[in-house]
Amino acid sequence: MKIAVLPGDGIGQEVTREALRLLELLELPGLEVEHGEVGATAYRNQGHPLPEATLELARSSDAILFGAVGDPSCDNLERHLRPEQAILGLRAALGLFANLRPATAFPGLEHMSGLKPEIAREIDVLIVRELNGDVYFGDKGTRVREDGQREGWDMMSYAESEVRRIAHTAFRAAQTRKNRLTSVDKANVLETSQLWRDVMIEVSAEYPDVELDHMYVDNAAMQLVKAPANFDTIVTGNLFGDILSDQASMCVGSIGLLPSAALGERQTDYGTFGLYEPIHGSAPDIAGKNLANPMATMLSLAMLLRHSLGREADAERIERAVAEVLADGVRGGDLGGSATTTEIGDAVVTKMVSIS
Ligand code: NAD
Ligand code: IPM
Ligand code: MN
Repeated sequence: MKIAVLPGDGIGQEVTREALRLLELLELPGLEVEHGEVGATAYRNQGHPLPEATLELARSSDAILFGAVGDPSCDNLERHLRPEQAILGLRAALGLFANLRPATAFPGLEHMSGLKPEIAREIDVLIVRELNGDVYFGDKGTRVREDGQREGWDMMSYAESEVRRIAHTAFRAAQTRKNRLTSVDKANVLETSQLWRDVMIEVSAEYPDVELDHMYVDNAAMQLVKAPANFDTIVTGNLFGDILSDQASMCVGSIGLLPSAALGERQTDYGTFGLYEPIHGSAPDIAGKNLANPMATMLSLAMLLRHSLGREADAERIERAVAEVLADGVRGGDLGGSATTTEIGDAVVTKMVSIS
C-alpha cells in the first residue's frame, strides 16, 4: 500500500502536514508514504513543475495526496512551466477524469455561510466535475492579427465518449444518494453543451431509477445560493464545475472545508486509484503564516482512505473528528475564529484519539 504525497506550494505545504498527522495516527499496516515535488517548488528545484520522477512516483502509488500549486512569481512563465501544469498534467497523464466535490453542511456552521442559516443547514450536494476535457485541454494560442490587435483563443470541445463516461460516474453516484441528478450546461449557446445534454439523456435510459434534469449554468449559479437543498448530485463540465464548486464552498462556510477526489478507471488491490486534494489553491495571501484551514485536506485524506484504500471506518473517523472539532467551536480565520493551522491539527488529532 503506497501513498504519494505531493504538498506543492504555499499553504499546500502547511495543510498537507496536518493531514499527514492523522494518517500517522491511524498506523495502517504496511503503508508506505513517499513525498514528491510539484508546482513552483519543483520548478525551482528541478526546472519543471511536474518532474518525471514525480510522475513516476504517482504512477507507482495506490493513491496521491495533493496539496496545492501556484505561485505569483510564476504567473508570467511560459504556460508549460507554470505550477498549475502540475495538477493539470497529473489529471491528464493518469486519466483522472471524474472529480467528486462534495459540499455538505456542518452542524454549528450555519452562521458562517454566506446564506441564511436555515438555508445553509440543508446543503448536501455532490458536484461531479469532468476533469480531462473541455476548454482546459483544447487547442489554445495567441497571435497578432493582421489589424495589429493581439488575440487569444482556447478551443472548447467534448467528445461523446468523454461525456458518456462522466455520465455513468454521475448516475452511479446519484444512486448512492437521493437518486436525483442535475446536469449543468450552456446548451442554449454552446455546441459542446448540446452534445453534453444529448448524451446525458441517452445514458439516463440505463438508470431509470435516477431522475435527471437539466439546468443552464447561469441559472445553476443562482439556484445554488437561492435554494441549494434542491440539488442532490450535479454533473457538469470542467470549467463550470471549477466555478460552481468554489461557490458551493461558501454556501457551506469556507473554501477551506471542501475536499475532492479525482478518479479514473484504474483499480488497485484496495480500491480505485485516485488523486485527492482540497478544492482551494496555494493561497499566497496567507501562505507561511500558519493561518490556513487544513480541514479540506484532512477530508480529502478521508476520501482517499474510502475510495483508494478501502478503509471506510478510518475515513468516517476523520470526518467525524473534523465535524466534532467544528461543532466544538475550533475555527480558523476563514471561519471567523482564531485557531491556527497547527492548532486545528492538534484539535483534530486529539478528537481522533478520543473517538478511536
Ligand atoms: P485560492 O483558493 O488559493 O485562494 C482564494 C482565497 O481563499 C484566498 O483569500 C485564500 O487566502 C483563501 N483560502 C484558500 N484556501 C484556504 C484555506 N485552506 N484556509 C483559509 N483560507 C483559504 O485561490 P486563488 O487565490 O485564486 O489562487 C492562488 C493560486 O493557487 C493560483 O496560483 C492558482 O492558480 C492556484 N490554485 C491551485 C489549485 C490547485 O492546486 N488545485 C486550486 C485553485 C487555485
Ligand atoms: C482546481 C484549480 C485548478 C483547476 C487550476 C489550478 C488548474 O482551480 O483544482 O479547482 O482549474 O482545475
Ligand atoms: Mn478551482
